[in-house]
Amino acid sequence: MNSNRASSIEQPHIIDGVAAASNVVESIKAKVQAEKLRPGLAVVLVGRDPASSVYVRNKKRRAEECGFLSRQYDLPEATREVELLALIRDLNQDPEIHGILVQLPLPPQINPNAVIEAIAPNKDVDGFHYSNAGRLGTGDIEQAMVPCTPLGCLHLLKQVLGDGLRGKHAVVIGRSNIVGKPMANLLMHNDCTVTIVHSRTVEPQNICRQADIVVAAVGIPKLVKADWIKEGAVAIDVGINRVTRTNGESGLVGDIDCDNVLPLTTAITPVPGGVGPMTIAMLMLNTLNAAARSNRLAATLTV
Ligand SMILES: NC(=O)c1ccc[n+]([C@@H]2O[C@H](COP(=O)([O-])OP(=O)(O)OC[C@H]3O[C@@H](n4cnc5c(N)ncnc54)[C@H](OP(=O)(O)O)[C@@H]3O)[C@@H](O)[C@H]2O)c1
Repeated sequence: MNSNRASSIEQPHIIDGVAAASNVVESIKAKVQAEKLRPGLAVVLVGRDPASSVYVRNKKRRAEECGFLSRQYDLPEATREVELLALIRDLNQDPEIHGILVQLPLPPQINPNAVIEAIAPNKDVDGFHYSNAGRLGTGDIEQAMVPCTPLGCLHLLKQVLGDGLRGKHAVVIGRSNIVGKPMANLLMHNDCTVTIVHSRTVEPQNICRQADIVVAAVGIPKLVKADWIKEGAVAIDVGINRVTRTNGESGLVGDIDCDNVLPLTTAITPVPGGVGPMTIAMLMLNTLNAAARSNRLAATLTV
């Protein structure tokens, strides 16, 4: 850590993603009650992957907390693609269901792209369908379902910066379809100047050091060190990496070396407790908005 660089910065703060997510959920509950809505979320789990089972359980719990109809479909590991596609076809037609989420990864006999493209775009609350990716990419944000993790990151950035995203240089590390690319599009839509860094980028630290906003979505523990960060930057850590600590215990760390980067920043998200809870809150938001649109309600909640 370079403490001299940190000296001019006042009170960097750790962004509380748990509290932010709770606030979003409270707004959703209020909207559901006020509009007498019953948004329906169907979550499909194929197989018994332990991490996926935890994610699905958390989504179901949050959906129930929001007052949604919450349905979970547990399919065996050996499920054939045609069987999963048939379930999706049924859910597409089901008037009680407004959001369909198929938990990834899927077993190898199932092509995830075929599954994503089978979901009706207006029920694609993960925002992975080509038509939603296209809407986001072309700036038709009002009609798009935006992927939950980047949407949660944007919400946290607006909490810190308010309307101050305009003209900021944002560097997104990672170019996946579920995080990096949609994040870059969202930031561009909010008038940031955006650079994407990936595994083939030459000297990524020099590019990151120019950023007012850094969003790291890589999957490498503590990749982003203090010398990657400009004084006063806002840092959003999407990474979730399981590591074994020196005491032998296992724990989660992000893609940013938080302890050493924190003093340089205006604000930073922790791992855990930062972006993760926001991802589920944004899934609820997308489901609420899908239900509101299907009921032809003009007013939906926005980030
Ligand atoms: N908090 C949440 O809710 C949430 C949600 C989703 C994902 N995540 C976490 O976020 C992380 C990223 O997820 P993902 O699905 O986007 O991962 P991914 O599909 O594996 O993409 C990783 C990206 O990082 C880039 N990369 C790899 N090594 C790099 C390096 N040394 N320097 C710069 N870029 C590098 C890759 O570049 P190339 O394209 O060149 O290979 C790729 O674009 C993971 O830890 C994941 O668990 C968290």
